[in-house]
Amino acid sequence: MATQTVTENALLARARASHSKEDCQTLYAEWADTYNSDLADASQDYVAPFLAAETALEHTTNVKGLILDAGCGTGLVGEALARGGAVTIDGLDLSPAMLRVARNTGVYRDLDIGDLTQPIEKPDEVYDIVTCAGTFTHGHVGPVPALREFVRVTKTHGIIVATILEDIWVSGGFKAEVELLEAERLVKVVNVELKDYRRGAGDKATFVVLEKVGSV
Ligand SMILES: C[S@@+](CC[C@H](N)C(=O)[O-])C[C@H]1O[C@@H](n2cnc3c(N)ncnc32)[C@H](O)[C@@H]1O
Repeated sequence: MATQTVTENALLARARASHSKEDCQTLYAEWADTYNSDLADASQDYVAPFLAAETALEHTTNVKGLILDAGCGTGLVGEALARGGAVTIDGLDLSPAMLRVARNTGVYRDLDIGDLTQPIEKPDEVYDIVTCAGTFTHGHVGPVPALREFVRVTKTHGIIVATILEDIWVSGGFKAEVELLEAERLVKVVNVELKDYRRGAGDKATFVVLEKVGSV
């Protein structure tokens, strides 16, 4: 048990210490198989994906619509969405190893390798809901171009639900980018709320809900 805890903390520490796409690729290739059990451990109690799915389900009027789970990882958000009645969910992630685990959930329609630091290889205005949990964190993905790309691929009046780790919401430029998208009348900010991220570790994330109202 002690060895398991040390390993788990080492992987989490590496996640927080990631500086590049290459760091993330190496880390998640090693972590994919134990990611779910490590983060379900009481010392972590990683609730962000479940709260993100719950938030999306609360705010959508179209649960049967098309959903993109960006940075889907092993599929925790997709599974929670499916339990809530979602039927058509696409996933996108940088890590082939994480996507392999996501594929085994059986809840995703398409799963693609994709880099959220670049334009998303999806057409404009196709998704009713875009979710992104746990991926706006240290050394992973920044607000630009990802948030604007989420708006681009979302249908008018569709919603975007993203978690941003509390300590980078302002310092990482996420708040400023949301305000810019709102000033450009591309989105309406429906809700911004601090919620639990890892209950076991006591950290929190900003959960932002945007409604697309204009075209990118
Ligand atoms: C903490 S995990 C979150 C996964 C899942 N959404 C969850 O909540 O369990 C972060 C995910 O971001 C992905 N990621 C990191 N950098 C990325 C990038 N540039 N583009 C797409 N995904 C990325 C990782 O591969 C990993 O699956």
